Amino acid sequence: MYHLECIECHKKYPETEVIYTCTCGGLLDVIYDYSRIHITKKDLTGPLSVWKYRALLPISREPISLQEGGTPLYRIDRIAKNLGLKDVYVKHEGMNPTGSFKDRGMTVGVTKALELGMKTVACASTGNTSASLAVYGARAGVPAVVLLPSGKVALGKLAQALMHGAKVLSIRGNFDDALKLVRDLCDREGFYLLNSVNPYRLEGQKTIAFEIADKLGWNAPDRIILPVGNAGNITAIYKGFKELKNLGLIERVPKMTGIQAQGASPVVAAIKNNNPAITPEKHPETVATAIRIGNPVNSIKALKAIRESGGTAETVTDEEIIRAQHELAYMEGIGVEPASASSIAGLRKLVEIGVIGNDEIIACVTTGHLLKDSEHVLSVCPKPIEIDATIEAVRKAVFSK
Ligand code: F0G
Repeated sequence: MYHLECIECHKKYPETEVIYTCTCGGLLDVIYDYSRIHITKKDLTGPLSVWKYRALLPISREPISLQEGGTPLYRIDRIAKNLGLKDVYVKHEGMNPTGSFKDRGMTVGVTKALELGMKTVACASTGNTSASLAVYGARAGVPAVVLLPSGKVALGKLAQALMHGAKVLSIRGNFDDALKLVRDLCDREGFYLLNSVNPYRLEGQKTIAFEIADKLGWNAPDRIILPVGNAGNITAIYKGFKELKNLGLIERVPKMTGIQAQGASPVVAAIKNNNPAITPEKHPETVATAIRIGNPVNSIKALKAIRESGGTAETVTDEEIIRAQHELAYMEGIGVEPASASSIAGLRKLVEIGVIGNDEIIACVTTGHLLKDSEHVLSVCPKPIEIDATIEAVRKAVFSK
């Protein structure tokens, strides 16, 4: 039903082979024989979830699952009105089992690890991938090893990786250094690499597109806006929409719009300068530690997704990210971590500079939950007001400005 294929030289590999990139160095994609996949809207009734779309996932065994996907698609009418827009949605991926979209990739990736007979799973991570791998590793009964950039991982994510029993290694270096190391480790030790360079991860994540279109009655929005770090998710969501179009389930593919933090924006630079490839940033820096990445491994796929779909890429400052995080929280009741808020910050900026028209139907993906990074929240919100336990003190505090 499917095989792996290099996106550069088109060399094919069987699904049974443990391989992450082509011998030529190119990224791999999972290619299906669509002539053998017959799926109609009628086959796809019922609640949303990753495994609802099983016919389009490369797995034959019983999945390792914690009921991932099925995340809410909220309208954000107050923010939309404020920006002069009509139809803006937030796909809140923070509502997945471990609090981020990574679970969609991990349920597929860890299940694939078992299918391939792998005994240990591993990843480098800015935090969420490690939390998700630890959890799905635990669920599968397979040991997990995670490499994290020392001092730059939000506490909630670190807590998850530790509590769920991963071997947690804190690397004196950044995410890009950790990814290089874990790829080497997996090659040497035969551990299964579950970063998004592994094409099976992206297969799980493409279900974000399926769920958005499904929820909108098999219609695609005009535009998807999402944060870009290692550039896997934008690639995966684009693939999802393309598949739906090829299968005749939707009519158009949305404009893929990637947002990066100003201090970590190699994909935006390549789009703006019309370069065929990115130039890695040696010292990426941003408050949004999840996307503090200078050398995104999936950048070639992501540039293609943005260009083919007629989308764009834009940077936002840390201040804009924090403002958007606040707005989502107090205007809409949606709590997200800083990286996720960059999609809303990007929406605002693209409206302000006239790239987004006011009649567009837009879905912003918020990738991770507010509680992932509560240390950051405490650093940007006012402190609780400590008072005596008397009604006078309470009233005075409640009515003070
Ligand atoms: N948002 C959040 C909350 C993330 O954790 C990440 C990536 C992204 C956006 C960017 O997604 O890499 O597919 O472009 N986090 C990875 C990690 C790198 O290790 O958890 P991407």
